[in-house]
Amino acid sequence: MGSIYGDIFRISTFGESHGKAIGVIIDGCPSGISLSEEDIQEYLDRRKPGQSKFTTPRKEEDLCKIMSGVFEGLTTGTAIMVMVENTSQISKDYDKLADVYRPGHADYTYQEKYGIRDHRGGGRSSGRETIARVIAGAVAMKALKELGVNISAFTQSIGPVHVRCFDLEQCALNPLYMPDYEAALVAQDYVSRLIGEKDSAGGIISCIVRGLPVGIGEPVFDKLDAVLAKAMLSIGAVKGVEFGAGFAVASMKGSESNDAFFVKKDENGKRTISKRSNNAGGVLGGISDGSGLIMNVAIKPTSSISSKQFTVNKELEEVELEVGGRHDPLIVPRAVVVVEAMAAISIFDLMLRNMSARFENVKKVYG
Ligand SMILES: Cc1cc2nc3c(=O)[nH]c(=O)nc-3n(C[C@H](O)[C@H](O)[C@H](O)COP(=O)(O)O)c2cc1C
Repeated sequence: MGSIYGDIFRISTFGESHGKAIGVIIDGCPSGISLSEEDIQEYLDRRKPGQSKFTTPRKEEDLCKIMSGVFEGLTTGTAIMVMVENTSQISKDYDKLADVYRPGHADYTYQEKYGIRDHRGGGRSSGRETIARVIAGAVAMKALKELGVNISAFTQSIGPVHVRCFDLEQCALNPLYMPDYEAALVAQDYVSRLIGEKDSAGGIISCIVRGLPVGIGEPVFDKLDAVLAKAMLSIGAVKGVEFGAGFAVASMKGSESNDAFFVKKDENGKRTISKRSNNAGGVLGGISDGSGLIMNVAIKPTSSISSKQFTVNKELEEVELEVGGRHDPLIVPRAVVVVEAMAAISIFDLMLRNMSARFENVKKVYG
């Protein structure tokens, strides 16, 4: 039913926003990766709400417990189960939403599809569902770091405010996770204004993957960009994904859009193929080309807003709605780590799959 993702590094996620717990079972994770609850918690803390006025004031500790698959600090090759108990849910905040459909949210479609819906906190369609992704992403990230692959995401824009310079260290210093101090100030003013108007904002998250070897991606249906696009679009509120120059290639000429190759020599005289530009975003034919992978992800404004909206209830009556409860006026900063996590899960899985692409690699193991 769509809760399982990945082919070798396969994750199965469970849990609703106001249920007992949320978590993930990871099957197919190789043994011997060092892993602790602290490793995972570091990522969960970046997703945690209540850290600034630009995210929901809900105080959720989101402490994870590793229930299986790790022994003496190392993964054992058996199923890894990690969960987070839901402890600070106030379900009565959502009583009003039992029979009314929030515009822009998943209430109406869940009700029509399943005929029953856990309306408390959005149930399975809640942003809390991404806890499971972040846990699995933290595990994949541990493996990728040892393999020299580095994934980092940041806020590229909030509403109409775009970053103009790039200093990754700035991200941790402002609540919007923007790598540009000035832009972050302007964006904070913009979001503060919207909060005053009981409205919400969206934005773009950029993700860069460095150290990815050439050859990752499984044409034709599991091309690297196709897999990543699916991974990103499966995150709630994501409405678009582009790679490299993205939609801008449609108005370029071939001579502008092509990334010219050249031969690069390192300090030891080793010669490798490189590219003079990266409009392709690091993917050619669905396979990584050895340059940085660049991806932009568009996030819509939070649909649960407390200004008056027109909607319909289960009895098919037209009603007015002001959504109460504690919602993110801006999802973007909390979704940055979710984007990193989904990229890590997808890329680690594709790297494991790529190991059997050449028989010479298979012979290295069995020959
Ligand atoms: C980290 C995160 C936090 C979110 N928080 C909220 C929230 O507080 N209120 C809300 O209405 N939607 C929130 N969302 C978005 C909803 O989950 C999403 O809009 C909903 O599932 C409908 O799916 P769709 O927007 O992809 O159509 C959040 C999403 C993420 C990734």
